[in-house]
Amino acid sequence: MKEINDNKNAWSLLSKDHYELYKKRLSDYKTHINENVMNELGDIQGKSLIHLQCNIGSDTIYLARLGLSKAVGVDLSESNVYYANKLAEEFRMSQVSFIESDVLELNKIHHEKYDIVFTSEGVLGWLPDLKKWAKVVRSMMKDDGFFYVYDSHPFFHIFDEEGLSIGKTDLKYDYFNAKPDESNDIGGYASDVKHGINYWWNHSVSDIINALIEAGLEIHYFHEFDTLFWQNGNMDEVKPYLFKYKHFNNQLPLSYSIKATVKK
Ligand SMILES: C[S@@+](CC[C@H](N)C(=O)[O-])C[C@H]1O[C@@H](n2cnc3c(N)ncnc32)[C@H](O)[C@@H]1O
Repeated sequence: MKEINDNKNAWSLLSKDHYELYKKRLSDYKTHINENVMNELGDIQGKSLIHLQCNIGSDTIYLARLGLSKAVGVDLSESNVYYANKLAEEFRMSQVSFIESDVLELNKIHHEKYDIVFTSEGVLGWLPDLKKWAKVVRSMMKDDGFFYVYDSHPFFHIFDEEGLSIGKTDLKYDYFNAKPDESNDIGGYASDVKHGINYWWNHSVSDIINALIEAGLEIHYFHEFDTLFWQNGNMDEVKPYLFKYKHFNNQLPLSYSIKATVKK
């Protein structure tokens, strides 16, 4: 698919910058996994985990450091996977490995099952087909395992980004049946902004939840947060790596999480 291929090329432009920044953070023993996620994931010691859309694997490595028996990261970009393997080697993480794959095609090449299927921070919007995605998620779960996602909220994504930073809620994007948004720029949150055409799909809350239910999952919770995991302009960092608009308080959901298990 042209859009997936363009996304792959665009993300690859950022790999080296991300590697350099996150290598430094991992060396300082820091992560950008925020408190919302850490609290909800709970104790992961001794568990196996697959991390979908892992970028250059820094969060995969951080989670593995918390005592995972095995961690596997998956990403579309060859150069992300190259740098992810490099990081795992540099930090001597022998229980960590990486797979280069479109997450929507992963079940064709990978048949293992995990205690935890994990994906977070800037993920679902890169995928055109959530029904296919949810089937892949289910196929990677052990029968007693769980799935966890933490991502930006689809409702927040309908507003003009620059408007939000000055307190305006101007509608700019569709919420339902959204066509992909085409952009010429990518990055900026952990690198300079680079020029590379890319496509992003806003999926409604019901599309996300129903895709998981149809794939055979049982939703344990859907949580919403008024904090975001990147600085979107004129926001305060209220906790490490969690940002809040100065002028919106309890008014907009900015991120969400879902935990689900296999329906018995
Ligand atoms: C915003 S980043 C995720 C960052 C990640 N949370 C982290 O901690 O570094 C989105 C990632 O999704 C990957 N991606 C986009 N489309 C994908 C696809 N179809 N299959 C697998 N990975 C994909 C990109 O290559 C990119 O690394």
